[in-house]
Amino acid sequence: MRLNNRIAIVTGSARGIGFEIARRFAEEGAKVVLADIIEAGVESAQALHDLGHDVAFFRTDVASNDSVESLVAFTLERYGRVDILVNNAAINIPGSILEVSEEIWDKTFAVNVKSQFLLSRAVVPLMQKDGGGTIINMGSGNSYVAEPRLSAYVASKGAILMLTKQMALDFAKDNIRVNCICPGWVDTSFNDAHCDLYGGRDEVLKMIDDIHPIGRTIKPVEIANSAVFLASDESSAITGTGLIVDGGLTAR
Ligand SMILES: NC(=O)c1ccc[n+]([C@@H]2O[C@H](COP(=O)([O-])OP(=O)(O)OC[C@H]3O[C@@H](n4cnc5c(N)ncnc54)[C@H](O)[C@@H]3O)[C@@H](O)[C@H]2O)c1
Repeated sequence: MRLNNRIAIVTGSARGIGFEIARRFAEEGAKVVLADIIEAGVESAQALHDLGHDVAFFRTDVASNDSVESLVAFTLERYGRVDILVNNAAINIPGSILEVSEEIWDKTFAVNVKSQFLLSRAVVPLMQKDGGGTIINMGSGNSYVAEPRLSAYVASKGAILMLTKQMALDFAKDNIRVNCICPGWVDTSFNDAHCDLYGGRDEVLKMIDDIHPIGRTIKPVEIANSAVFLASDESSAITGTGLIVDGGLTAR
């Protein structure tokens, strides 16, 4: 039990990587609030509850400060503190800067980047009061390398890596570690629109050897296991880093 009795908030956890992080955290003894904008989070939390885990779902729009403050208030009321925050929720709308609208650009930055500012701003004072904590921001291989026709998303993920490093500097003295996980291609519905750019998911999977030297996509649990490591005391000297979990994608 590497996270025994720790209290965690995981955003974007109704499905995909976020759900797998919530599941692995719960397996390691954490009590987890799953936060997501979609109602499917109710069933996701119920599935973990049925396995005997102490979890709850709170419907949250991470781009809204009111919603984020309600999430933190709910967590405090239910569990009394926050030890771990995973800023995982994001959207991915493809397009070059000539193809994305101003609305798409602003929405991408609101959901992907501003959300991490809003939630961290709400949680850091609690962690300072309680003697520390860990924050994990979800970056991407695109925090390090760009990709054609993915302008808003790539720019947002680059910003997340630097926000991570910046926050790590400010709060190291408070025993708050801030890190970023940078996944390669994880086969979730997140990539559906992106796959369409390349002729569909099957075509993308045919190219996977070129994308990932390990010859396969990354499994959500492989990202979740990295999150367990960064959330646990095993990574006690690690802050301000981007942990690349990409099957070698960015090694080229
Ligand atoms: N799948 C990949 O290949 C991949 C690669 C690199 C990085 N990532 C990152 O991993 C994270 C999770 O991706 P995923 O593949 O699990 O995607 P996903 O689409 O399966 O999950 C994202 C979740 O975020 C939620 N969400 C979206 N907008 C929200 C909002 N405003 N408020 C609250 N929740 C909101 C969605 O409802 C969804 O449940 C993202 O940060 C993504 O950028 C994914």
